[in-house]
Amino acid sequence: MEILRVENLSKAFKKFKVIDDISLSFEKNEIFTLMGQSGTGKSVFLKLVLGLLKPDRGRIIFQGEDITHASDQAWIEIRKEMGMLFQNGALFDSLNVFENVSFLLTEHLNISHEEKVERVYKLLMEVGLKGIEELYPSELSGGMQKRVALARTIALNPALLFYDEPITGLDPITAAVIIRLIRELNKKNKITSIIVSHSIKTSLEISDRLGLLYRGKLVALEEAEDIKNSKNKYLKQFIEGSTKGPIEVFLEETV
Ligand SMILES: Nc1ncnc2c1ncn2[C@@H]1O[C@H](COP(=O)(O)OP(=O)(O)O)[C@@H](O)[C@H]1O
Ligand SMILES: [Mg+2]
Repeated sequence: MEILRVENLSKAFKKFKVIDDISLSFEKNEIFTLMGQSGTGKSVFLKLVLGLLKPDRGRIIFQGEDITHASDQAWIEIRKEMGMLFQNGALFDSLNVFENVSFLLTEHLNISHEEKVERVYKLLMEVGLKGIEELYPSELSGGMQKRVALARTIALNPALLFYDEPITGLDPITAAVIIRLIRELNKKNKITSIIVSHSIKTSLEISDRLGLLYRGKLVALEEAEDIKNSKNKYLKQFIEGSTKGPIEVFLEETV
């Protein structure tokens, strides 16, 4: 069953088309990875779907409802169902872990302090953390910050979760922990997961389906099991990390 669909989604900044007529549908409870080089519009795509940027053209259908032009009021409800783990964790530096994780609970639910304490404890346990409620983000490692951010994101039990580069910048072991968590949340809490990543290895490991963005276009879309034998030239080049193929390589590029 479909949970989210974008139709002819387009977004330009000045004259520069970042997302160019993308149509794509996501299935309930799948793990989908949208791959692509830096600067191909992956984060912009997520921001469009999350209503943080407005598309120039196209429609976004979430759980059967057209949310493209949803009001701010409507978005309050939609945001309970759709979470996002931002690239940089984006914890509030001036709030401790308890305040960070309980942020959405405080915003959206009318529950007692005792209940909040209990919920935060459980949420932290879900991401493998304990007894750090009083600490501030600056006192945590990068991996712990990611996990706290994840606990905060799942507080309202969203149906759909976006992960923007969830393991970029993490050491391999911490990355493995985050990947296991994404899988667990997908299985246990039935959270549909849309990951944005430029890491091919992890993408192949974790996803049911993968898409490849290039210059604002969706140039490949495959089931994970078909990737290895795919004839798609873009996909082949991206996976092999080759300089030869339809993806233009600028050697002077520093990013
Ligand atoms: N708010 C913005 N205003 C202008 N240009 C932007 C904005 N956000 C992103 N861009 C540009 O859009 C392109 C894609 O960005 P982004 O989606 O962040 O790439 P990535 O695939 O690395 O996540 C980049 O060239 C970036 O500079
Ligand atoms: Mg990005």
